Amino acid sequence: MNILVTGGAGYIGSHTLIELIASGHSVVVVDNLCNSSKIAINRVEKITGTSIPFYETDIRDKEALNIILDKHQINCCIHFAGLKAVGESVSHPHEYYDNNITGTLTLIGALREHGIKNIIFSSSATVYGEPQVIPVTEDCPKGICTNPYGWTKWMIEQMLIDLHTADPTYNVVLLRYFNPIGAHESGLIGENPNGIPNNLMPYITQVAVGKRDKLHIFGNDYDTPDGTGVRDYIHVVDLAKGHVKALNAIQSNCGVEVYNLGTGKGYSVLDIVKAFERVNDVKIPYVIDDRRPGDIATCYSDPSKAWTALGWKAEYGIEEMCRDSWNWQRQNPDGYG
Ligand code: NAD
Ligand code: UD1
Repeated sequence: MNILVTGGAGYIGSHTLIELIASGHSVVVVDNLCNSSKIAINRVEKITGTSIPFYETDIRDKEALNIILDKHQINCCIHFAGLKAVGESVSHPHEYYDNNITGTLTLIGALREHGIKNIIFSSSATVYGEPQVIPVTEDCPKGICTNPYGWTKWMIEQMLIDLHTADPTYNVVLLRYFNPIGAHESGLIGENPNGIPNNLMPYITQVAVGKRDKLHIFGNDYDTPDGTGVRDYIHVVDLAKGHVKALNAIQSNCGVEVYNLGTGKGYSVLDIVKAFERVNDVKIPYVIDDRRPGDIATCYSDPSKAWTALGWKAEYGIEEMCRDSWNWQRQNPDGYG
Protein backbone atom coordinates (compact mmCIF):
# COMPACT_ATOMS: atom_id res chain seq x y z
CA MET A 1 0.00 0.00 0.00
CA ASN A 2 0.97 3.64 -0.36
CA ILE A 3 0.73 5.11 3.11
CA LEU A 4 0.62 8.68 4.35
CA VAL A 5 2.41 8.71 7.71
CA THR A 6 1.71 11.84 9.73
CA GLY A 7 4.21 12.43 12.53
CA GLY A 8 6.59 10.02 10.82
CA ALA A 9 9.70 11.80 12.11
CA GLY A 10 8.69 11.15 15.72
CA TYR A 11 9.64 8.34 18.06
CA ILE A 12 6.99 5.75 17.15
CA GLY A 13 6.49 7.00 13.59
CA SER A 14 10.16 6.63 12.65
CA HIS A 15 10.28 3.05 13.95
CA THR A 16 7.07 2.26 12.09
CA LEU A 17 8.49 3.55 8.80
CA ILE A 18 11.19 0.88 9.00
CA GLU A 19 8.68 -1.93 9.49
CA LEU A 20 6.37 -0.62 6.77
CA ILE A 21 9.20 -0.41 4.25
CA ALA A 22 10.49 -3.87 5.28
CA SER A 23 7.02 -5.23 4.55
CA GLY A 24 6.98 -3.78 1.04
CA HIS A 25 4.80 -0.72 1.64
CA SER A 26 5.56 2.75 0.27
CA VAL A 27 5.47 5.73 2.61
CA VAL A 28 5.02 9.49 2.38
CA VAL A 29 5.79 11.42 5.55
CA VAL A 30 4.20 14.64 6.77
CA ASP A 31 5.63 16.16 9.95
CA ASN A 32 6.03 19.77 11.07
CA LEU A 33 9.07 18.76 13.17
CA CYS A 34 7.66 20.51 16.26
CA ASN A 35 8.88 17.60 18.41
CA SER A 36 11.32 15.82 16.12
CA SER A 37 14.17 16.18 13.70
CA LYS A 38 14.66 15.57 10.00
CA ILE A 39 17.74 13.58 11.05
CA ALA A 40 15.40 10.78 12.18
CA ILE A 41 14.14 10.46 8.59
CA ASN A 42 17.69 10.50 7.24
CA ARG A 43 18.57 7.68 9.60
CA VAL A 44 15.53 5.64 8.61
CA GLU A 45 16.65 6.10 5.01
CA LYS A 46 20.07 4.82 5.99
CA ILE A 47 18.65 1.78 7.81
CA THR A 48 16.22 0.88 5.02
CA GLY A 49 18.38 1.92 2.05
CA THR A 50 15.45 3.84 0.58
CA SER A 51 14.55 7.43 -0.13
CA ILE A 52 11.49 8.70 1.75
CA PRO A 53 9.29 11.49 0.41
CA PHE A 54 9.16 13.95 3.32
CA TYR A 55 7.08 17.12 3.73
CA GLU A 56 7.74 19.55 6.55
CA THR A 57 4.07 20.40 6.85
CA ASP A 58 1.57 21.04 9.61
CA ILE A 59 -1.51 18.80 9.44
CA ARG A 60 -3.61 21.91 10.12
CA ASP A 61 -2.52 23.29 6.73
CA LYS A 62 -5.20 21.88 4.43
CA GLU A 63 -3.89 23.52 1.29
CA ALA A 64 -0.49 21.91 1.77
CA LEU A 65 -2.10 18.54 2.51
CA ASN A 66 -4.16 18.79 -0.66
CA ILE A 67 -1.05 19.40 -2.75
CA ILE A 68 0.64 16.34 -1.20
CA LEU A 69 -2.44 14.17 -1.68
CA ASP A 70 -2.80 15.35 -5.29
CA LYS A 71 0.75 14.27 -5.95
CA HIS A 72 0.78 10.84 -4.26
CA GLN A 73 -1.77 8.07 -4.73
CA ILE A 74 -2.39 7.32 -1.04
CA ASN A 75 -4.43 4.28 0.07
CA CYS A 76 -4.23 4.66 3.84
CA CYS A 77 -3.16 7.15 6.51
CA ILE A 78 -1.34 6.17 9.70
CA HIS A 79 -1.89 9.17 11.93
CA PHE A 80 0.79 9.69 14.59
CA ALA A 81 1.04 13.50 14.47
CA GLY A 82 0.08 15.12 17.74
CA LEU A 83 1.33 16.72 20.91
CA LYS A 84 1.77 14.23 23.74
CA ALA A 85 3.13 15.81 26.92
CA VAL A 86 0.54 15.28 29.62
CA GLY A 87 1.68 18.08 31.99
CA GLU A 88 2.02 20.58 29.15
CA SER A 89 -1.51 19.73 28.02
CA VAL A 90 -2.80 20.80 31.45
CA SER A 91 -1.05 24.18 31.25
CA HIS A 92 -1.69 24.69 27.50
CA PRO A 93 -5.07 23.06 26.77
CA HIS A 94 -5.88 25.34 23.84
CA GLU A 95 -2.67 24.35 22.03
CA TYR A 96 -3.41 20.67 22.61
CA TYR A 97 -7.01 20.81 21.42
CA ASP A 98 -6.01 22.93 18.45
CA ASN A 99 -3.09 20.78 17.40
CA ASN A 100 -4.60 17.37 18.02
CA ILE A 101 -8.30 17.93 17.34
CA THR A 102 -8.19 20.68 14.69
CA GLY A 103 -5.21 18.92 13.15
CA THR A 104 -7.07 15.62 12.88
CA LEU A 105 -10.23 17.29 11.54
CA THR A 106 -8.23 19.09 8.88
CA LEU A 107 -6.39 15.91 7.97
CA ILE A 108 -9.50 13.78 7.64
CA GLY A 109 -11.15 16.54 5.62
CA ALA A 110 -8.28 16.48 3.13
CA LEU A 111 -8.27 12.68 3.09
CA ARG A 112 -12.00 12.64 2.41
CA GLU A 113 -11.63 15.03 -0.53
CA HIS A 114 -9.18 12.54 -2.00
CA GLY A 115 -11.39 9.52 -1.34
CA ILE A 116 -9.04 8.09 1.31
CA LYS A 117 -11.13 6.24 3.87
CA ASN A 118 -8.56 4.01 5.55
CA ILE A 119 -7.15 5.40 8.79
CA ILE A 120 -5.01 3.92 11.57
CA PHE A 121 -4.87 6.13 14.64
CA SER A 122 -2.36 6.30 17.51
CA SER A 123 -4.52 6.15 20.57
CA SER A 124 -3.47 5.44 24.11
CA ALA A 125 -4.31 3.37 27.15
CA THR A 126 -5.01 6.75 28.72
CA VAL A 127 -8.55 6.59 27.21
CA TYR A 128 -9.44 3.91 29.78
CA GLY A 129 -8.93 6.49 32.58
CA GLU A 130 -8.75 4.46 35.78
CA PRO A 131 -9.45 1.07 34.13
CA GLN A 132 -12.41 -0.83 35.50
CA VAL A 133 -10.77 -4.18 34.75
CA ILE A 134 -7.10 -5.25 34.96
CA PRO A 135 -5.75 -6.62 32.66
CA VAL A 136 -7.51 -4.10 30.45
CA THR A 137 -9.45 -5.54 27.51
CA GLU A 138 -10.81 -3.49 24.63
CA ASP A 139 -14.30 -4.05 26.08
CA CYS A 140 -13.36 -2.10 29.17
CA PRO A 141 -15.35 1.15 28.96
CA LYS A 142 -13.52 4.35 28.16
CA GLY A 143 -13.06 6.36 31.32
CA ILE A 144 -12.62 9.87 32.63
CA CYS A 145 -9.31 11.32 31.46
CA THR A 146 -7.29 13.39 33.90
CA ASN A 147 -5.81 15.79 31.35
CA PRO A 148 -6.49 17.47 27.97
CA TYR A 149 -4.00 15.20 26.17
CA GLY A 150 -6.04 12.18 27.19
CA TRP A 151 -9.29 13.87 26.16
CA THR A 152 -7.91 14.59 22.69
CA LYS A 153 -7.28 10.85 22.21
CA TRP A 154 -10.72 10.05 23.60
CA MET A 155 -12.44 12.53 21.29
CA ILE A 156 -10.47 11.66 18.15
CA GLU A 157 -11.40 8.01 18.63
CA GLN A 158 -15.06 9.06 18.76
CA MET A 159 -14.72 11.31 15.70
CA LEU A 160 -13.30 8.43 13.68
CA ILE A 161 -15.98 6.01 14.88
CA ASP A 162 -18.64 8.55 13.86
CA LEU A 163 -17.14 8.82 10.38
CA HIS A 164 -17.57 5.09 9.96
CA THR A 165 -21.13 5.20 11.31
CA ALA A 166 -22.05 7.81 8.71
CA ASP A 167 -20.16 6.05 5.93
CA PRO A 168 -19.47 2.34 6.54
CA THR A 169 -16.93 2.26 3.71
CA TYR A 170 -14.47 3.87 6.15
CA ASN A 171 -12.01 1.45 7.74
CA VAL A 172 -10.66 2.74 11.05
CA VAL A 173 -8.21 0.97 13.35
CA LEU A 174 -7.73 2.53 16.77
CA LEU A 175 -4.50 1.30 18.35
CA ARG A 176 -4.32 1.88 22.09
CA TYR A 177 -0.65 1.88 23.01
CA PHE A 178 0.47 1.02 26.50
CA ASN A 179 3.99 2.24 27.45
CA PRO A 180 6.38 2.23 24.50
CA ILE A 181 10.10 2.16 25.34
CA GLY A 182 13.24 0.82 23.66
CA ALA A 183 14.70 1.75 20.30
CA HIS A 184 15.77 0.25 16.99
CA GLU A 185 18.63 -2.19 17.56
CA SER A 186 20.99 -0.09 15.42
CA GLY A 187 20.85 2.68 18.03
CA LEU A 188 20.38 5.15 15.15
CA ILE A 189 16.85 6.18 16.10
CA GLY A 190 15.13 6.44 19.47
CA GLU A 191 13.12 8.64 21.80
CA ASN A 192 14.31 12.23 21.87
CA PRO A 193 12.31 14.18 24.46
CA ASN A 194 12.51 17.95 24.71
CA GLY A 195 13.70 19.21 28.09
CA ILE A 196 13.08 17.19 31.23
CA PRO A 197 11.59 13.81 30.27
CA ASN A 198 8.08 13.15 31.60
CA ASN A 199 8.22 9.42 31.05
CA LEU A 200 10.15 6.88 33.04
CA MET A 201 12.56 5.28 30.56
CA PRO A 202 13.95 8.46 28.98
CA TYR A 203 14.49 9.80 32.50
CA ILE A 204 16.38 6.63 33.46
CA THR A 205 18.58 6.75 30.35
CA GLN A 206 19.39 10.41 31.01
CA VAL A 207 20.46 9.50 34.55
CA ALA A 208 22.57 6.67 33.13
CA VAL A 209 24.29 8.98 30.64
CA GLY A 210 24.97 11.58 33.37
CA LYS A 211 22.55 14.29 32.22
CA ARG A 212 20.48 13.98 35.43
CA ASP A 213 21.65 13.19 38.97
CA LYS A 214 19.03 10.73 40.02
CA LEU A 215 15.64 9.31 39.22
CA HIS A 216 12.64 10.57 41.20
CA ILE A 217 10.27 7.69 41.81
CA PHE A 218 6.73 9.02 42.13
CA GLY A 219 5.41 7.19 45.17
CA ASN A 220 6.15 3.83 46.80
CA ASP A 221 2.90 3.47 48.71
CA TYR A 222 0.65 2.17 45.94
CA ASP A 223 -1.21 -1.08 46.35
CA THR A 224 1.32 -2.97 44.19
CA PRO A 225 3.88 -5.67 45.10
CA ASP A 226 6.67 -3.16 45.88
CA GLY A 227 4.54 -0.01 46.27
CA THR A 228 5.66 1.63 42.99
CA GLY A 229 3.43 2.04 39.93
CA VAL A 230 2.98 -0.92 37.59
CA ARG A 231 2.78 -0.46 33.81
CA ASP A 232 2.81 -2.48 30.60
CA TYR A 233 6.06 -1.51 28.86
CA ILE A 234 6.29 -2.51 25.20
CA HIS A 235 9.28 -2.41 22.85
CA VAL A 236 8.73 0.28 20.23
CA VAL A 237 9.74 -2.15 17.45
CA ASP A 238 6.97 -4.54 18.52
CA LEU A 239 4.58 -1.60 18.57
CA ALA A 240 5.71 -0.59 15.08
CA LYS A 241 5.05 -4.11 13.79
CA GLY A 242 1.52 -3.87 15.17
CA HIS A 243 0.83 -1.13 12.61
CA VAL A 244 1.85 -3.39 9.75
CA LYS A 245 -0.58 -6.02 11.04
CA ALA A 246 -3.29 -3.37 11.36
CA LEU A 247 -2.85 -2.63 7.66
CA ASN A 248 -3.88 -6.20 6.90
CA ALA A 249 -7.13 -5.55 8.78
CA ILE A 250 -7.65 -2.37 6.76
CA GLN A 251 -7.05 -4.27 3.53
CA SER A 252 -9.75 -6.76 4.46
CA ASN A 253 -12.28 -3.95 5.06
CA CYS A 254 -12.46 -4.29 8.82
CA GLY A 255 -14.81 -1.37 9.54
CA VAL A 256 -13.96 0.00 13.00
CA GLU A 257 -11.63 -2.05 15.18
CA VAL A 258 -9.89 -1.25 18.46
CA TYR A 259 -6.74 -3.05 19.60
CA ASN A 260 -4.62 -2.84 22.71
CA LEU A 261 -0.93 -2.92 21.88
CA GLY A 262 0.85 -4.08 25.01
CA THR A 263 2.68 -7.16 26.27
CA GLY A 264 0.13 -8.11 28.91
CA LYS A 265 2.84 -8.02 31.60
CA GLY A 266 3.08 -5.42 34.35
CA TYR A 267 6.41 -4.17 35.70
CA SER A 268 6.87 -1.78 38.61
CA VAL A 269 9.14 1.26 38.51
CA LEU A 270 11.62 -0.60 40.72
CA ASP A 271 11.47 -3.66 38.42
CA ILE A 272 12.47 -1.41 35.53
CA VAL A 273 15.28 0.25 37.47
CA LYS A 274 16.68 -3.12 38.54
CA ALA A 275 16.36 -4.64 35.06
CA PHE A 276 18.08 -1.60 33.51
CA GLU A 277 20.95 -1.82 36.02
CA ARG A 278 21.37 -5.57 35.54
CA VAL A 279 21.20 -5.62 31.74
CA ASN A 280 23.40 -2.60 31.15
CA ASP A 281 25.70 -2.80 34.15
CA VAL A 282 25.07 0.82 35.16
CA LYS A 283 23.85 2.28 38.44
CA ILE A 284 20.65 4.34 38.58
CA PRO A 285 20.55 6.38 41.80
CA TYR A 286 17.00 7.20 42.85
CA VAL A 287 14.93 8.89 45.54
CA ILE A 288 11.32 8.30 46.47
CA ASP A 289 9.14 11.37 45.95
CA ASP A 290 5.43 12.03 46.37
CA ARG A 291 2.95 10.46 44.01
CA ARG A 292 2.49 12.31 40.69
CA PRO A 293 -1.04 13.75 40.42
CA GLY A 294 -3.17 11.79 37.97
CA ASP A 295 -1.12 8.57 38.21
CA ILE A 296 -2.81 5.26 38.87
CA ALA A 297 -1.35 2.26 40.69
CA THR A 298 -1.57 -0.40 38.01
CA CYS A 299 -2.28 -0.54 34.30
CA TYR A 300 -1.52 -3.41 31.97
CA SER A 301 -3.23 -4.83 28.94
CA ASP A 302 -4.90 -7.96 27.83
CA PRO A 303 -3.44 -7.97 24.29
CA SER A 304 -5.10 -11.23 23.21
CA LYS A 305 -7.51 -9.61 20.75
CA ALA A 306 -4.59 -8.38 18.62
CA TRP A 307 -3.18 -11.91 18.61
CA THR A 308 -6.46 -13.58 17.71
CA ALA A 309 -7.55 -11.07 15.08
CA LEU A 310 -4.27 -9.72 13.70
CA GLY A 311 -1.76 -12.43 14.53
CA TRP A 312 0.28 -9.83 16.41
CA LYS A 313 1.96 -10.21 19.73
CA ALA A 314 4.91 -8.53 21.37
CA GLU A 315 8.15 -10.53 21.00
CA TYR A 316 10.65 -8.50 22.99
CA GLY A 317 11.05 -8.71 26.74
CA ILE A 318 12.08 -6.19 29.34
CA GLU A 319 15.79 -7.01 28.88
CA GLU A 320 15.76 -6.03 25.20
CA MET A 321 13.74 -2.91 26.02
CA CYS A 322 16.34 -1.80 28.59
CA ARG A 323 19.28 -2.78 26.36
CA ASP A 324 17.99 -0.92 23.31
CA SER A 325 16.92 2.20 25.22
CA TRP A 326 20.45 2.45 26.62
CA ASN A 327 22.12 1.62 23.30
CA TRP A 328 20.29 4.57 21.68
CA GLN A 329 20.99 7.02 24.54
CA ARG A 330 24.64 6.01 24.89
CA GLN A 331 25.30 6.50 21.18
CA ASN A 332 23.26 9.74 21.10
CA PRO A 333 23.68 11.46 24.47
CA ASP A 334 22.04 14.61 23.06
CA GLY A 335 19.43 12.78 21.00
CA TYR A 336 19.46 14.13 17.45
CA GLY A 337 21.50 17.09 18.69
P1 NAD B 1 6.53 12.20 19.00
O1 NAD B 1 6.32 13.55 19.58
O2 NAD B 1 7.90 11.66 18.97
O3 NAD B 1 5.93 12.15 17.52
C1 NAD B 1 4.83 12.93 17.12
C2 NAD B 1 5.23 13.62 15.83
O4 NAD B 1 4.14 14.43 15.38
C3 NAD B 1 6.43 14.54 16.00
O5 NAD B 1 7.39 14.24 15.02
C4 NAD B 1 5.86 15.94 15.82
O6 NAD B 1 6.80 16.83 15.23
C5 NAD B 1 4.68 15.66 14.91
N1 NAD B 1 3.59 16.65 14.99
C6 NAD B 1 2.97 17.09 16.11
N2 NAD B 1 2.02 17.97 15.78
C7 NAD B 1 2.02 18.06 14.42
C8 NAD B 1 1.26 18.82 13.48
N3 NAD B 1 0.31 19.67 13.86
N4 NAD B 1 1.53 18.66 12.16
C9 NAD B 1 2.50 17.80 11.74
N5 NAD B 1 3.25 17.09 12.60
C10 NAD B 1 3.01 17.22 13.92
O7 NAD B 1 5.55 11.20 19.77
P2 NAD B 1 5.47 9.62 19.70
O8 NAD B 1 5.87 9.09 21.02
O9 NAD B 1 6.13 9.13 18.49
O10 NAD B 1 3.90 9.45 19.58
C11 NAD B 1 3.25 9.28 18.33
C12 NAD B 1 1.76 9.24 18.57
O11 NAD B 1 1.46 8.18 19.48
C13 NAD B 1 1.20 10.52 19.21
O12 NAD B 1 -0.07 10.77 18.67
C14 NAD B 1 1.08 10.14 20.67
O13 NAD B 1 0.09 10.88 21.33
C15 NAD B 1 0.70 8.68 20.57
N6 NAD B 1 1.04 7.93 21.78
C16 NAD B 1 2.32 7.95 22.25
C17 NAD B 1 2.64 7.25 23.40
C18 NAD B 1 4.03 7.29 23.95
O14 NAD B 1 4.22 6.89 25.09
N7 NAD B 1 5.05 7.70 23.22
C19 NAD B 1 1.65 6.52 24.09
C20 NAD B 1 0.36 6.50 23.56
C21 NAD B 1 0.06 7.20 22.39
C1 UD1 C 1 2.08 8.62 30.86
C2 UD1 C 1 0.87 9.49 30.73
C3 UD1 C 1 -0.10 8.85 29.76
C4 UD1 C 1 0.57 8.55 28.44
C5 UD1 C 1 1.79 7.67 28.72
C6 UD1 C 1 2.57 7.35 27.48
C7 UD1 C 1 0.68 10.68 32.88
C8 UD1 C 1 -0.15 10.86 34.12
N1 UD1 C 1 0.26 9.72 32.04
O1 UD1 C 1 1.67 7.37 31.37
O2 UD1 C 1 -1.19 9.71 29.54
O3 UD1 C 1 -0.31 7.88 27.56
O4 UD1 C 1 2.66 8.37 29.62
O5 UD1 C 1 3.14 8.53 26.95
O6 UD1 C 1 1.63 11.40 32.67
N2 UD1 C 1 7.63 7.52 36.99
C9 UD1 C 1 8.51 7.81 37.99
N3 UD1 C 1 9.44 8.79 37.76
C10 UD1 C 1 9.53 9.47 36.58
C11 UD1 C 1 8.62 9.15 35.55
C12 UD1 C 1 7.67 8.18 35.80
O7 UD1 C 1 8.46 7.23 39.07
O8 UD1 C 1 10.40 10.35 36.45
C13 UD1 C 1 6.65 6.43 37.21
C14 UD1 C 1 5.18 6.87 37.10
O9 UD1 C 1 4.70 7.30 38.34
C15 UD1 C 1 4.53 5.58 36.60
C16 UD1 C 1 5.62 4.92 35.74
O10 UD1 C 1 6.85 5.49 36.19
O11 UD1 C 1 4.24 4.73 37.67
C17 UD1 C 1 5.46 5.16 34.25
O12 UD1 C 1 5.32 6.56 34.04
P1 UD1 C 1 5.30 7.19 32.57
O13 UD1 C 1 6.44 6.69 31.79
O14 UD1 C 1 5.18 8.67 32.71
O15 UD1 C 1 3.99 6.59 31.92
P2 UD1 C 1 2.46 6.60 32.45
O16 UD1 C 1 2.31 7.34 33.70
O17 UD1 C 1 1.97 5.21 32.40
